[in-house]
Amino acid sequence: MHRFQLRTTLCYGPDALEELSRLSGRRVFIVTDGFISKAPLMSRVRDQLGDAAIEVFDDVQPDPDIDAVVAGLRAYNAFDPQAVLAIGGGSAIDTAKAVRKMAIEQAVRPEASFFILPTTSGTGSEVSSYAVVTDTKTHTKLPLESPDMVADVAILDPEAVRTAPARLTADSGMDAISHAIEAYVGKHHNDFSDALAEKSLRLANQYLVRSFCDGDDMVAREHQHTAATMAGIAFDNSSLGIVHGLSHSIGGIFRVAHGRLNGILLPHVIAFNAGELSFMPAELTPTARRYAALASALGLTASNQRNLVLALSEWVKKIRQNLEMPASITQAGVDRSEYLSRIPEIAETAVGDYCTAGNPVPVTSRELTAILTAIV
Ligand SMILES: [Fe+2]
Repeated sequence: MHRFQLRTTLCYGPDALEELSRLSGRRVFIVTDGFISKAPLMSRVRDQLGDAAIEVFDDVQPDPDIDAVVAGLRAYNAFDPQAVLAIGGGSAIDTAKAVRKMAIEQAVRPEASFFILPTTSGTGSEVSSYAVVTDTKTHTKLPLESPDMVADVAILDPEAVRTAPARLTADSGMDAISHAIEAYVGKHHNDFSDALAEKSLRLANQYLVRSFCDGDDMVAREHQHTAATMAGIAFDNSSLGIVHGLSHSIGGIFRVAHGRLNGILLPHVIAFNAGELSFMPAELTPTARRYAALASALGLTASNQRNLVLALSEWVKKIRQNLEMPASITQAGVDRSEYLSRIPEIAETAVGDYCTAGNPVPVTSRELTAILTAIV
């Protein structure tokens, strides 16, 4: 038996923010960052919340650590909310998830309902049961997974992403693409996750570069926002793989945006998982066939299945180029010699990453070292 979990209500499209009016009159604990708490979006949120009692915890930092979660929990307990509203990208959402989960574990008060308003199109965190918190002592990213971290309501209002800078649009968009591709070939892929991953990629193909080039293109913003959430549902019900395993491990040491790392890794991981394309036997591996099927679903054409896999890899590279993203770790600003010296440590951590376990092909730290060396 398999399970495909549907729990979060998706409110989407222009004016989706109006859903927040349901929280009028309640005690609402908002988790966000210092920038968003002063942005015009917050005034719109307050307008919708009407006469709700509001407490804003806006001390969220990029790549939230355990200390930030503990500080959030302290503020949460002092306020005693009936609802939690996360507003932001992955960092704010993951902080809110971790804070709410810890509060539930304390079991002191009734569970607060959970609303998420993403301001980027990429993490899929608004529909996933995962959060990532950094352990600053060990420089590792700690994965948390729990049904308690699934939102009751995700509000996908394109206006909330309109002001996202182009760089952030590119990074988060490439993250969404990597979610869709990894979910499609992931160990636990299924017909439901396949359908969402395919549609997500087709939408990204049409709308990601458009929303990067013109942030005010609200048609593109709306569809790319949908694409990111679809990819989130897909990976939450399938699995991720070594793009994420490696990206988490590199990102724990070097401050490079998660989606940017994924974009660097993706073509190399496709080649590895497909069985190293240059040496690929006449008979494709099952994973290579999956990549070829995804390429077809995306509308790519080629003379044979092997070339379809290559076409998918080339498609990623083309999107990456159009988004003006780096193709290597040094292009992303990481010092070459420092990176090379830390590859053994990065590979070791990545082997044990929870996403690595979902990769369609088993990996050793030696194989991950080869990929890590190839992206220099
Ligand atoms: Fe991701």
